[in-house]
Amino acid sequence: MWFRPGWPINAPVVASPARALAVRTLHKVLSGDSYAATALDRALSSEKLAGRDAGLATHIVYGTLRYLPALRLALEPLLRGKTAPKAQALLLAGAFEKLYLETPDHAVVSEYVTLARSMRFAPPGLVNAVLRRVQRPQGNSPEARYALPDWLAEQLRAVYGDEAEAVMADLLMPQPLWLKVWDKGADLLETEGSVIEGARAGVDRVALDRPLRHTRAYQEGQAQPVNPSSVAVLSALGPLKGQKIYDLAGGAGVKAALMAKAGAKVTSAELHAHKHESARTNLRRLGVRAELITHDLTQPLDREPRPLVLLDAPCSGSGTLRAHPEIKQRLTPGAVTELAELQAKLLDNAAGLVAPGGLLVYSVCSVFPQEGPDRVSAFLAAHPEFSAEPLPDLGLPVVEAGAGAYTVPLDGLDGFYIARLRRT
Ligand SMILES: C[S@@+](CC[C@H](N)C(=O)[O-])C[C@H]1O[C@@H](n2cnc3c(N)ncnc32)[C@H](O)[C@@H]1O
Repeated sequence: MWFRPGWPINAPVVASPARALAVRTLHKVLSGDSYAATALDRALSSEKLAGRDAGLATHIVYGTLRYLPALRLALEPLLRGKTAPKAQALLLAGAFEKLYLETPDHAVVSEYVTLARSMRFAPPGLVNAVLRRVQRPQGNSPEARYALPDWLAEQLRAVYGDEAEAVMADLLMPQPLWLKVWDKGADLLETEGSVIEGARAGVDRVALDRPLRHTRAYQEGQAQPVNPSSVAVLSALGPLKGQKIYDLAGGAGVKAALMAKAGAKVTSAELHAHKHESARTNLRRLGVRAELITHDLTQPLDREPRPLVLLDAPCSGSGTLRAHPEIKQRLTPGAVTELAELQAKLLDNAAGLVAPGGLLVYSVCSVFPQEGPDRVSAFLAAHPEFSAEPLPDLGLPVVEAGAGAYTVPLDGLDGFYIARLRRT
C-alpha cells in the first residue's frame, strides 16, 4: 500500500463508488431537485451499482435524510460561515456514518477525505477536521433525540400520546419492504431465496435476495410493493368485488390496481397525466384494467355518481417519514395549511360523485389533525347529507380521532388518517 503526502494514514487511494453515489444523490435531493427514491433509482441503474455497494449507498442516502436535523445540529458548531451545498452533502453523509451507522471513526475520516479529493466536493482538510471532531448532539430536544423539529414532535405527541416516543424512534429505522402477493407470488419469492418475515393486514414483509424488479413474482404480476396502512384504506371501503368505484387523486394508481385485482370496476382521476403512464404500465404488469382520466379535482367532475368513492388526497406525507425522509426538510406549518385548503376543495367535489346511500372514504398519509379529523369535521358540518360511520377492523393498530382513525406508524407501518362517510 502507498500513501500520498498529507493524507491521513489508512486513507484509501480509490474513492468508494457507493459513498460517491450516495453523496451525489444527497446533493440532488437536498437541493430540492429530486425525491430520494427517484434520484437513487436513477443513479443506481445508470452507474450499474448492485449488491452490497447498492445496499450501502441506499443506507447512507436514507439514513442521512432521516437524521438530517440532528446531523445539522451536530455539524453547526464545527462550521464557520456558509458551507457550499456539495460540501454539506459530503459532511452530512460522513457524519451520519460516524454517528449513527457506526462505521469506525478512522474509516469514516479516511473514506470521506478521499471522496472530497476525488469528487472535488469539499476541501479535504475541512472534511478531515470536521469528521474527526463531530459528536452526537446532546440534550433532550426532539431534534437531538429523534431528528424532528419541535412543532412536528408536538403534533405526534398530541395524536399518539403514550406511544409517541416509540413512534418517533421508529421513524428513524430503515423502511422494510412490504409486498402484497397473489397466487404463487410467495412461492416464487421463497424459491428464489427471498425470505418472508411476517405479514400485516395481508401484506408480507419481505427480505429480498435480489432487486424487486428482477424477481419472478414481480415480473409475472404476482407482487406489488405497498405499505399495509395503504391496504387498510381499502379495507375501509368494505367488499370490492363487482363494485363500481371512483379512485380520486389516483396518482400512479397503486390503490387503483389493488382494487382492480380485488374485482372492482375502477375509474381513477388524477391531475398529472404523466402519472397515468406509470399506472398503465403497472396495471398491465398486474394483468388488470382501470379507466384513467386526467382531471383537476378542484373543479367538479361531470360523471354519474357511484356507490363507492375513495379520495386518497394529496397531503404532507407526514405519516411516511420513514420511507420518504426528505419530506422533513420541506414540511412547514404554512405548507400544511395550504394542503388543508386543497383537501377541502377536493372533498367538496368528491361529495358530488357519491350516489345516495353510497360511501366516501377519505384518506391522507398524514398525522396532522389539520389534514385529517379537522378536515372531516369541517366537511360534515358543510354537508349534512353525509354522516360518519365507524371503521371496520382494519387489521392494524389505530388511534381514534374525530370521525375516523389514525394508523400507528410503528414497525414499518405508515401513519394514515382514514374516515368513512355515508351519504343519506
Ligand atoms: C396521495 S397521492 C395518491 C396516491 C394513489 N392513491 C396511490 O395509491 O397510488 C395524491 C395524488 O393527488 C394528486 N393531485 C394533487 N392535486 C390534485 C388535483 N387538484 N386534482 C387531482 N389530483 C390531484 C397528486 O398528483 C397525487 O398523485
